[in-house]
Amino acid sequence: MQNTRHLPVLLREVLEGLSPGEGETVLDATVGLGGHSAAFLRAIEEKGHLIAIDADSENLAEARQRLQSLPGRKTFEHCNFRELPDMALPHCDVIFADLGVSSPHYDDPERGFSFREDSPLDLRFDRESGETAAAFIARSTPGEMQRVLFRYGEVRQARALALRIAEQKPQTTKELSTCVEFVCKFRAKSVLPQVFQALRIAVNGELDALAVLLRHAPPLLKEEGRMGVISFHSLEDRMVKHAFRLLTTPERDGRTGAIATPARFELLTKKPIKAGEQEIAANPRARSARLRMIKRAF
Ligand SMILES: C[S@@+](CC[C@H](N)C(=O)[O-])C[C@H]1O[C@@H](n2cnc3c(N)ncnc32)[C@H](O)[C@@H]1O
Repeated sequence: MQNTRHLPVLLREVLEGLSPGEGETVLDATVGLGGHSAAFLRAIEEKGHLIAIDADSENLAEARQRLQSLPGRKTFEHCNFRELPDMALPHCDVIFADLGVSSPHYDDPERGFSFREDSPLDLRFDRESGETAAAFIARSTPGEMQRVLFRYGEVRQARALALRIAEQKPQTTKELSTCVEFVCKFRAKSVLPQVFQALRIAVNGELDALAVLLRHAPPLLKEEGRMGVISFHSLEDRMVKHAFRLLTTPERDGRTGAIATPARFELLTKKPIKAGEQEIAANPRARSARLRMIKRAF
């Protein structure tokens, strides 16, 4: 039976682009509930090896259970992909990351991801380590909070809101929403998702982790290996685009313009792949998804 709690985003496009094949090694750096990984396992069959990572131990446990009956060797690691440089990983045919939040994060009111529920402000992917959003708010200066709101949420009234947050020190989703309503008035409804996104990115160090992934994952690819990343907001997509462009651009001789060192990678997606109307209708979260892929040439 299909797990409707998390419909894997852009699944057909991921499989077409990354084309996992029989006997291959696949690293899923964000296994979540295992939607994409289930399809990877079916493709790599008995002789394949799936290495599945997630920062969220509850999601990882659910993925492990869901994937256990499928063929292929499986290794599950509870860790953040920012730990990639310290992990002893084999070379891979496919590396994949589907960034950000999964449905259980929103569905469980205890996690503090949804501003529609009243709950403690947690917002961590990994509830076993790190600082909650409430603790982050409690220790942040108005200047730090303003930077987080502006940089990660592109919140226009970042300064006024940061001052209000510093004054009120909200500890629950409701208290934070009240601060946003006080400052942003009738615009509050549209600003709330930006504020929650900003805090989530800060609390989980999401952009730093992505930078590590983009730097350390491509060298792990075997010759002809493929890597794909799905991002959900422009800050992430910009980072993926720049990293992939650098990897796929040859070095040229400054004087003659001739290629001095050919690029080790080629772009599989000149433009990011987006979900079609049908997928968006079935899964509104797919609306902001952007898939970019590269391939190791030699
Ligand atoms: C969008 S979901 C993945 C869904 C998955 N592709 C599926 O089909 O079920 C993103 C997952 O990545 C995890 N995650 C986010 N950032 C992470 C990081 N830096 N390291 C490891 N896991 C991370 C989250 O905990 C979440 O489970």
